Amino acid sequence: MTHATSSNGDHLALWGGRFTSGPSEALARLSKSTQFDWRLADDDIAGSRAHARALARARLLSPDELNRMESALDELQRHVDDASFVPVEADEDEATALERGLLQIAGDELGGKLRAGRSRNDQIATLIRMWLRRHARMVASNVIAVVEAILAQARDAGTAVMPGRTHMQHAQPVLLAHQLMAHAWPLMRDVQRLIDWDARIDESPYGSGALAGNTLGLDPDAVAKELGFSKVADNSIDGTASRDATAEFSFIAAMIGVDISRLSEEIIIWNSQEFGFVTLDDGYSTGSSIMPQKKNPDVAELARGKAGRMIGDLTGLMATLKGLPTAYARDLQEDKEAVFDQVDTLSVVLPAFAGMVRTMSFDRKRLESEAPTGFALATDIAEWLVKQGVPFRHAHELSGICVKTAESRGVELWDLEDGDFRRIFKGFLPQECAADVRGVLSTQGSVAARDGKGGTAPIRVREQIAAAARRLTALRAFAASTSDGSAYKPPQTLS
Ligand code: ARG
Repeated sequence: MTHATSSNGDHLALWGGRFTSGPSEALARLSKSTQFDWRLADDDIAGSRAHARALARARLLSPDELNRMESALDELQRHVDDASFVPVEADEDEATALERGLLQIAGDELGGKLRAGRSRNDQIATLIRMWLRRHARMVASNVIAVVEAILAQARDAGTAVMPGRTHMQHAQPVLLAHQLMAHAWPLMRDVQRLIDWDARIDESPYGSGALAGNTLGLDPDAVAKELGFSKVADNSIDGTASRDATAEFSFIAAMIGVDISRLSEEIIIWNSQEFGFVTLDDGYSTGSSIMPQKKNPDVAELARGKAGRMIGDLTGLMATLKGLPTAYARDLQEDKEAVFDQVDTLSVVLPAFAGMVRTMSFDRKRLESEAPTGFALATDIAEWLVKQGVPFRHAHELSGICVKTAESRGVELWDLEDGDFRRIFKGFLPQECAADVRGVLSTQGSVAARDGKGGTAPIRVREQIAAAARRLTALRAFAASTSDGSAYKPPQTLS
């Protein structure tokens, strides 16, 4: 066969020889993946370059053939770049399309030599890794932009206070910056997860062949290096069949979605009329087609909603992998759409989300006036009593009586009379110092007192923000690193 078609039909297939008929139309439609895997074309061509050099080193391509092969691949890349070469209906997948393109440029004789010693099984397992490693850096930089927006808001918030809640009930006052920073840390951990994952996915399956390795004496280490991997898969079956690295990426993407969704929910509630804590910038709010007064938090809602789909991508992929016999099976083609969808989703969600966070403005007066209400200083009374030597069991009880008294009168704790405190604390404290408890009945006093590591005291929150900024420097180095040869190294200056 010397022309670019298989013997089983009038189109190029990579597996024609033993077939007498071409694929049925229904099979061809089912089998086709170019509509989503064409985005691996650049990685495929990079793989082909490295493979051609491996063939030449094994003397399976002459120096002249290698030269011509490399310029053919360059030309193919140019046609891919300017879209003058695109998959046609009959191309089964990106690999089929690119082989067709190469044969057109290099001719059947030379173009037909490139396929020796590799399989689409080891190719595709490598390509998805290359694509993910590159896009992980992009996702990381988008997450970092969200963290930077949170950090800027936290710095801006200074010592502003707000109601801290547990069970959605007023619990203890906290700094607004502290509450905001509680969303920065999980997102920074997500970026760290990408860094850790990157070290695990840094392993090239190229050279695994279909499953058992190759007989042609090709050097997989050289191919791996050229494609940015620092090592080669230890087991060719695992190399072609495993997708845990893809699934792990998918988990991290879903986790980022969930972490963003949790801040979204917070913002949506704060933005409601009843809360009135935050106002969203017009550029990041939408209106209603019927209700002229509406200003809706759609960015946060879409982020929250899309997190659901990203979790679906992960669970779909896990379900695909479960129960697969261990070697390549066509089911594995299903790994790509899941992670492509997640990356596409995150690349629209994260920039909009960062913009919304950066531009939202807080009603600090309202936050401050709400902060101590709902008896949020009750713990402060109990802990003040402990400092006066009262056992906590009793202190808790006595503070509870203060709450009950205030509640029955429809007032807050600081509205209680000195006489009330004397009566309630009687037997536990000398009468003359009972009313000194007022010293802790202020929001500022309450937050300043929580000065243990990780607490909401202004001094601790300042330290926290500085620590986060340092952490972010290390994470930025990953986002800025390339996945094509220079493995990420954490900056030396990291504490
Ligand atoms: N399109 C396939 C995938 O994405 C490539 C490998 C096909 N291998 C095969 N033996 N049919 O997984």
